[in-house]
Amino acid sequence: MEIRVADDGGDEMTLLSYNGRKYSFWPEALQSNPLERLPSVEIRPDDIIICAFPKSGTHWVWEIVRLLVAGQLDRDEVSKGSNMMEFASEEEYKDLPSPRILNTHLLFSQLPEQVKVKKPKILYLTRNPKDMTVSFYNFVMKLPMYYKYTGEWNNFVRPSLEGKFDYGSWFDYVKDWEEVKKTTDVPIMTLNYEDMKEDVFREMKKMQDFLGVKRSDEFVKEVCDHCSFTSMKKVKADMANIVYRKGEVGDWKNWFTVAQNEWFDQIYEQKMKDCPLEFRYTLK
Ligand code: A3P
Repeated sequence: MEIRVADDGGDEMTLLSYNGRKYSFWPEALQSNPLERLPSVEIRPDDIIICAFPKSGTHWVWEIVRLLVAGQLDRDEVSKGSNMMEFASEEEYKDLPSPRILNTHLLFSQLPEQVKVKKPKILYLTRNPKDMTVSFYNFVMKLPMYYKYTGEWNNFVRPSLEGKFDYGSWFDYVKDWEEVKKTTDVPIMTLNYEDMKEDVFREMKKMQDFLGVKRSDEFVKEVCDHCSFTSMKKVKADMANIVYRKGEVGDWKNWFTVAQNEWFDQIYEQKMKDCPLEFRYTLK
C-alpha cells in the first residue's frame, strides 16, 4: 500500500507499507509482488547474499564480489537492482549461473525460508549511522519522482534515525543482525564501510577467503581500482549522480549541527546500551 509519511516539518514522503514495515516505493518493481513471494523463493547453497541497511555501500560491495567471483574485469552492464530481493521478481535472478550474487536491505528473518536450510554465504555490511543518514537524505532528495519529498535536512534527521522512513530504524536493523550472528549457523561475514575505505585490498582478501575464491594479489588490486569511487561513478552512468555522491567517511560533519550531533550521541547511547557495536566516524 502506498503511504505518505511526514518529517518534523510536515513535509511528506511517499513510501510502501507492507506487512507493517516500510519500504521505498518503486511502482514499476511492485507489479510482480516480490515481497509477497519472497518467503518461498528458491535459494541455492552457493548463492551469495549481500545484506546491508540502505546507503551503507551495497553497490560497492556488490560490484567487488561480482568481479572477484568472475575472476575477470568484465564490464557487462548488470544492474544491482535486478538481483535486489525485495524489488526484483524471482524471474529476474532465477536462472542466473551460480554463484548468484543477490542483495537486499531486509532483515535476516525476512529472507526466503530456504536460507536457513541451504545456508548460502551472507556478506553483512555496516556503515556509521551519521554518514548513512546523510547519504540517505541526499538519495531521497535526488529521487523526487519516487519519494515526492522536498523536506529539509533539519526535519529529516530525527524521524529518519527513529525509523519513520523506508526500512525503519537503523538501530533495530543492526541490533537484529548482531542477535542473528550469535544464533544462526548460516555463514555470515561482517564487512564495514569505514574498514573498506581504510584498506579495501585488505578487506577484499578477507572477502575472498570467506567466499572460497582464490585470486592473485595482482587481480585483487585491479578489482580495487575498477571499484574505486571515481571509476564506478564514471562507469555506472545511469546511477552516477544518485548513488555515487561523495563516497567518504566523515561527510556528516558538513550536515549535523552541534545540537543534532549531541542528540545523536544521546540516542545512540540509549538505544545501543546492550549492544557493544562501535563505529568510526572519521578516518585518520
Ligand atoms: P555517499 O552518499 O556518502 O557518497 P548504497 O550502495 O548502499 O546505496 O550506498 C551508497 C553510498 O556508498 C554512497 O555514499 C556512495 O557514494 C557510496 N559508494 C558507492 N560506491 C562507492 C565506492 N566505490 N567507494 C566508496 N563509496 C562508495
